[in-house]
Amino acid sequence: MDARAVLASLRKGEALSRDQIRWFAGGLASKDVDDAQAGAFAMGICRNPMTVDARVALTMAMRDTGRVLHWDLPGPVVDKHSTGGVGDCISLTLGPAIAALGAYIPMLSGRGLGHTGGTLDKLEAIPGLSTEMSGEAFQRVVRDAGCALVAASADIAPADRRLYAIRDVTSTVESIDLITASILSKKLAGGVGPLVLDVKTGSGAFMKSIEDSEALARSLVTTANSAAGPAGALITDMSQPNVPSVGNALEIMEVMLALTDPDESSQISILTAELGGELLRLAGMAESRAEGARQVLDAMRSGAAAERFGRMVAAKGGPVDFVERWRDRLPSAPVVREVNAPHAGTVAAIDGHALGMGVVHLGGGRLRAGQGIDPSVGLSDVAMIGDPVEAGDPLAIVHGATEEEADAIARELTGAFTLGEGQIDPPPLIYKDIA
Ligand code: URA
Repeated sequence: MDARAVLASLRKGEALSRDQIRWFAGGLASKDVDDAQAGAFAMGICRNPMTVDARVALTMAMRDTGRVLHWDLPGPVVDKHSTGGVGDCISLTLGPAIAALGAYIPMLSGRGLGHTGGTLDKLEAIPGLSTEMSGEAFQRVVRDAGCALVAASADIAPADRRLYAIRDVTSTVESIDLITASILSKKLAGGVGPLVLDVKTGSGAFMKSIEDSEALARSLVTTANSAAGPAGALITDMSQPNVPSVGNALEIMEVMLALTDPDESSQISILTAELGGELLRLAGMAESRAEGARQVLDAMRSGAAAERFGRMVAAKGGPVDFVERWRDRLPSAPVVREVNAPHAGTVAAIDGHALGMGVVHLGGGRLRAGQGIDPSVGLSDVAMIGDPVEAGDPLAIVHGATEEEADAIARELTGAFTLGEGQIDPPPLIYKDIA
């Protein structure tokens, strides 16, 4: 077989065979396929959607180009994945809560992508904490704390690592087949069984419409069910941040508030409970999502989830007293500025993409691959849809490294909030579940 024959099939609109797909994935990892051929393959798939069987074959083939982890643990091994958003720190509350209930949740997590934040960058806002771990250390932390969120090593799904970089520069990221195979090949290489997917929709998500989000959710669930085990998805709102802060250390503060007093942080607690409840149902640990959600909230209210979070932080080199002393331990930015409402009204819409890019421009995300980031910068006290404001009231607080940067972003973000009149209802947190 050779790359030209596979590409010729794609050009003619023929369905690729399992052997062709497996050969191509192997060639991506071994470099028998060159960059031009990989780009042509990605464009071919964008123009010629795959059958379910072909998508499953691509997912498994990309998984098998690298190491597949195996776990020998006395409870179910489960996982959660979010398609990414702004102020989305739910993996950090859900992981420890699920661990406190007796399941094991080894999460291979990512860094910030585009305007969205990354779980690893957020965790690394905790002084001393490292998310890079050897395979042995990863196994040890999962066994002891029940959860660990770590960076995927280079030998996990290397075909995806290469294809993703090429998609990024050939305008071929937006293919449901390629997104599905990319996400799931890495998740399945993590060796997990039941999987819950948080598919975000709205201004701060990659998928802006419910229709596109639903198509992606269905593709992820169908493929995961065929390739691995039970999977379910919730389509959740991303027309505003999941918490009123955006930025690495600032989101860790929101996580600690939710883990120590979940009833005061309702939005993140509800999403954690619903996604966690669905995961417990898929793992056979709850009769229904609602019963699972009750278990998750109990684990948060009792302090058991916070205790697991503390164990994980200490095991990764962070402060041993983080759960008690997080307010003193997290870095804070030297300058704060308000984003002021230009007139009175009610928050009607929020441009989540603009908020995310505001944090990137403050230095909290990357404009170039490999760039360092400042964990302390970001936004807090973000007004939510339905909040009434008077002229001059703060719509958000900018935390910046310098006065110039904080002033510039504060001016720019005034336009990220649309103010309407009268009562405006907040959007639902969950639009749909896909089982
Ligand atoms: N996240 C991934 O891992 N892959 C994609 O293709 C898109 C988002």
